[in-house]
Formats: sequence, structure tokens, C-alpha cells
Amino acid sequence: MRSYQIISALSSKVKQVYRVRCADIDCILKIYPDAESAAKEAEIARKVSMTGYAPKVIECEDNKALFEYIEGDNFNEVFRLATMTDDVAGMELLASRLSIFLQMIYSFTDCVMKRVDFNNYIVKEGRVIGVDFSEVDDGMPYEDLAGAITCALFNGVGEYYSCFPFIQKLLDCFKLRMMDVINEIKVKIDSVSKNTKGNLDRELLLDSLANFDEKCVDWRKLI
Ligand SMILES: Nc1ncnc2c1ncn2[C@@H]1O[C@H](COP(=O)(O)OP(=O)(O)O)[C@@H](O)[C@H]1O
Ligand SMILES: [Mg+2]
Repeated sequence: MRSYQIISALSSKVKQVYRVRCADIDCILKIYPDAESAAKEAEIARKVSMTGYAPKVIECEDNKALFEYIEGDNFNEVFRLATMTDDVAGMELLASRLSIFLQMIYSFTDCVMKRVDFNNYIVKEGRVIGVDFSEVDDGMPYEDLAGAITCALFNGVGEYYSCFPFIQKLLDCFKLRMMDVINEIKVKIDSVSKNTKGNLDRELLLDSLANFDEKCVDWRKLI
């Protein structure tokens, strides 16, 4: 592995992630628990980076991989701001950009993201770029759609319906209805709420999602 100087630590969950400087260029260094995990994420990133929707892989050796540093805005922060300000057009734009990224994954890897966490995406020059492919695996795109909807419900600012324009646009992009994914969302909501102390009223939320496709209630008027 070429020499690098650590600038800052970004994460130390399963893998350690650092922003580093390497030959005067900012890069991302990821140190994994084993070489297989490093090779797996690097392989996915290599395939997707051909489209410009993932960081380029600079080097991968043993349990370390060095990636291009993507300068941009954290998707979760942009999303939270849009829900906080009821920026419907902004939410719809984010939803279609996220869908484009997900389509890239499906076209270039035959895999799905498996778990959608908005902190794993960077908004740069009109694109949503994925930076964490460690959980990518076999699956069906509707699982990611359900994951993205669940992530939106838990990360929006204010009432949970503040993110409904985002959810509606995502469903439109996938050409699916809420009823097609609601069971998968229930599973995801239960697994997320086990890990959070949020006071989310599960039944109320599921009721409103069950009525999501009914056009008789104009939830846009709620926000
Ligand atoms: N190539 C990259 N360019 C810019 N930021 C990155 C890049 N890769 C990772 N990051 C940032 O580092 C954070 C942690 O990296 P990630 O691979 O998601 O590890 P983990 O999920 O284990 O925390 C990301 O959420 C993102 O903010
Ligand atoms: Mg991550």
C-alpha cells in the first residue's frame, strides 16, 4: 500500500474509515476486518465507478482499500433540510436522483444495496453517489425501495408525513405502489425501531402507509 497521512477518522464501526492525504490528493482509506471484505467492496465500487456513481478504487491490498474522495453534500443532511423546510421539489429531486443511483447498482452489479442508509450517499453536481458498498448482496430492488422509504420515515424532520413527497416520488420512479412494498417496510420498521429509542407510534404510521395509495386524502395539504 502506498504511503498516506491520516487527516481525520470518519468511522470505526465494522471497518475503520479515514480521510487521508496521498501524494497531495485527498483519498478515503478503509481498513476492514479481513481481506475478503476489502476485495468485495472494491469490486463493487470498481464496477459502479465506471458510471461515475461510485468513488474510483485507487488501490486494494490485503484488508485495506484506498478510494477516491468524493467532495459533496451528505445525502442525509440534504434530505433533512428538505423535510424541515417542506421543500417538495427538493425532496422529489433527491428521490429521483437516489433512484438513478440504485438503477446503476442493479444494471452494473446484479446486486442490491440490501440496507439503505442515507449517510452512505453523497450529493455532488446533480448526482447521488454511493460510497459504502459493504452490504451489497443478492436481492430484489423492491427491498431497497422499502429500505429507502423506512430510512426516510426515520430521518425526516418533524412529522413523519413531512417526507411523503420523497416517498411518493421514489414509488413513481420504481413504478410500484405502497401496497407492493408495505410488508417489507413493516419488517424494516421493526428492525430499525428495535435499535432506536424513538417514540414512533408504529400502528399509526402503518395505518397511514396502508392508506398511502388512496388518493381521497391529499396528504400534501398536511404539510
Ligand atoms: N469515497 C468517499 N468520499 C467521501 N466520503 C466518504 C467516502 N467513503 C466514505 N465516506 C464517508 O465516510 C463515512 C463512513 O464510511 P462508510 O464506508 O459508510 O463506513 P461505515 O458505514 O462503516 O461507517 C460515510 O458515511 C461517508 O460520510
Ligand atoms: Mg456506511
